[in-house]
Amino acid sequence: MAGARITGWGTALPEKILTNVDLESMMDTTDDWIRERTGITERRVGGLTSTMAIEAGQKAIDRSGVDPAAIDLVLLATSSADQIMPATAPTVQNELGLNCGAFDLNAACSGFVYGLVNGYAMAGIGYERVLVIGSDILTSYLDWDDRGTAILFGDGAGAVMLEPAKETTLLGSDLGSDGATRHLLYIDHGGKLQMKGREVFRHAVRAVVDSCNKAMAQAGLTADDIAIFVPHQANVRILDSACAKLGIPLERTAVVLDKTGNTSAGSVPLALVDALEKGDIQPGDNILFSGFGAGMTWGSAVVRWEP
Ligand code: COA
Repeated sequence: MAGARITGWGTALPEKILTNVDLESMMDTTDDWIRERTGITERRVGGLTSTMAIEAGQKAIDRSGVDPAAIDLVLLATSSADQIMPATAPTVQNELGLNCGAFDLNAACSGFVYGLVNGYAMAGIGYERVLVIGSDILTSYLDWDDRGTAILFGDGAGAVMLEPAKETTLLGSDLGSDGATRHLLYIDHGGKLQMKGREVFRHAVRAVVDSCNKAMAQAGLTADDIAIFVPHQANVRILDSACAKLGIPLERTAVVLDKTGNTSAGSVPLALVDALEKGDIQPGDNILFSGFGAGMTWGSAVVRWEP
């Protein structure tokens, strides 16, 4: 199988900031409660899945320096596509001026990790330059009278460019799902987001820990070999609990949810790029990505950083 590595990255966030204090005037909640129970202080709202995906994708292409004409595939992870049909990825392909295949992938908040693993797989069969994007606008589907869900989510996007490498930098991965738990988190056609928060919390911790351990085992690595953990950004208490069980300290974990809330498929690349900008990732580092979300779905990937 041909190898691949990440050579570019980029993000996009809507301009409008919605703080916990703003939410206090919209529903029966407090800044203190939200920060204590979730770790979130503010989130961004507005925009379109396609617009954010295009901005993040353009930045990833620019950063990699890849010739747009050489890009072979656009893979957009989203559960909030602009329309039911067509997929949003062809809009992104067209606006970026690319000449290649493009499709959406829906694994909800696990979407970016699913996309990344599939991007590496496609690279393995000859789609050498794959643009993997995660973009979601879940705030469009929130019931602003439901304080148990409305406080959690934000909008955002992130992207990475995959290019050929002598050896693959995807050292291990694990993807899982359990449709028997689909009632815990869903959006019906024409409806609003519904969630059983406590149950999602319990399932999330278990799924993240099991999946990360499987991906690390496949890579032949342990928690000590992981330079940085880049998890889905849902709730800082989920991260605390998962980190403790994995034996990875929070200091080696990328966290942006205080400023973004849960941006679904956008959250893992937003956390990755934030860690890169802080200088927390160096060439040769092993990165552990993980995601979980509606489905329920979950996924993990161990990637060696060779940009
Ligand atoms: N402000 C103030 N009080 C709130 C509130 C809010 N925004 N939301 C809920 N409450 C209240 C509840 O009504 C309940 O009150 P009661 O005891 O009088 O009935 C109390 O707080 C505790 O509610 P509970 O749902 O048990 O709280 P929790 O500690 O489980 O926190 C979540 C709720 C949603 C923050 C938490 O369950 C969670 O984050 N779950 C995971 C969700 C998630 O990550 N989803 C995305 C997955 S991709």
